[in-house]
Amino acid sequence: MAMQRQHGFDPIETASRDEITALQVKRLKWSLGHAYENVAHYRRKFRAAGVHPDDFRELADLAKFPTTTKEDLRQTYPFGMFAVPMERVLRIHASSGTTGKPTVVGYTRADIDTWAGLMARSIHAAGGRPGDKVHLAYGYGLFTGGLGAHYGAERLGCTVVPVSGSQTARQVQLITDFAPDIVMCTPSYMLNLAEAFRAAGRDPAATALRIGLFGAEPWSPAMRREIEHCCGLDALDLYGLSEVMGPGVANECIEAKDGPVIWEDHFYPEVVDPQSDQVLQDGSFGELVFTTLTKEALPVIRYRTRDLTRLLPPTARSMRRFEKIAGRCDDMLILRGVNIFPGQFEDLLLRDERLSPHYLLELSREGALDSLTLKVEPRCAVGGEAGAAIARDLGAKVKDTIGVTVRIDLLAPGGIERSEGKAVRVIDQRPA
Ligand code: DLL
Repeated sequence: MAMQRQHGFDPIETASRDEITALQVKRLKWSLGHAYENVAHYRRKFRAAGVHPDDFRELADLAKFPTTTKEDLRQTYPFGMFAVPMERVLRIHASSGTTGKPTVVGYTRADIDTWAGLMARSIHAAGGRPGDKVHLAYGYGLFTGGLGAHYGAERLGCTVVPVSGSQTARQVQLITDFAPDIVMCTPSYMLNLAEAFRAAGRDPAATALRIGLFGAEPWSPAMRREIEHCCGLDALDLYGLSEVMGPGVANECIEAKDGPVIWEDHFYPEVVDPQSDQVLQDGSFGELVFTTLTKEALPVIRYRTRDLTRLLPPTARSMRRFEKIAGRCDDMLILRGVNIFPGQFEDLLLRDERLSPHYLLELSREGALDSLTLKVEPRCAVGGEAGAAIARDLGAKVKDTIGVTVRIDLLAPGGIERSEGKAVRVIDQRPA
């Protein structure tokens, strides 16, 4: 095992900031050199920007280097960004990519080992311990969620139940019969599971589950409260993305529950202004950017995640955290000049106990104007007048708090399609 845990922590988790900075500088030098020497695309980009890995001496120098986006991975599809010969690549994952080609990522044996170690660290931070049973309902396959979490749970010494994400009624049965301590899935799937428990006449709060590691999609603090309340467990935020590794780039600590802690010994974070690319000070809101410090097969230099948040000072560990992701730049809707994140609707729905937390936003165009329909459903069937009142109240709350006029479409209970992985929240029907 690459990393030795002492008192349950990897020693670096509680090291001094000076030690962490020194390690980051050393590893950044290596990673920049590795990318430059072994990936023609990085070499071209560094040269075009007039920088060389030797120009990096201290952390502030990183800002001189060009950022990397999904577009770089698309241009070099499938393996052009790999920095090692294919014989050294042990595994490939890919993200579906809503438009065009998927982005392809690869791992050497050392990368897989690091990933398992960091996922084990994440589960441990969430309160998981060797011997715990883990019901793992992230999708297995090209998606990094299933296998990434799986190897980490095994590394920690847990018993893994690799159910992947479907057959919800069967999952209810397995959770009831196997009595797992930990569940791992998307937060929207956890709501789906809770509903399936109720449909089977069982109380979702009466399971053996103690902890949930939820991620792969944005979820609001209100959603955390909802899941914790209805499922009777501690809900922790697990973050990651395929290009940077997969799940386990950052994870919340159960003793603080104050935003995911970035495993800064392997990933160097920055927050930039998404428009100007300028690096912002810690605490400012902007786009999260990561540079990998140890990855061999696919080093990423200043990767633009599109995720919006702010960097926060260390609390439960010596490493920095970020605030719960507010949304992605790509998911931001601009409706008649107002910037909106789907998560803002989630928050409003969760405050009205007549409504279920499931929703769908449909953007369409009428004449020259964009219009937005918010499809929601009541928790229990309601009659015409009561339904009209719910819709009226919600419309007024949206106008008051988010500042836009939307059409409310109240469907029957269960009318919104349930997610088995990442929930689809927005459908854009505007002509291209
Ligand atoms: O979703 C990896 C993952 C699997 C993370 C399981 C956590 C649990 P991708 O499919 O490449 O990888 O999608 C990455 O998902 O840029 C975020 O927009 C979003 N995301 C992931 N975790 C969180 C989270 C996986 N905890 C993209 N909160 C990221 C909010 C998240 N958004």
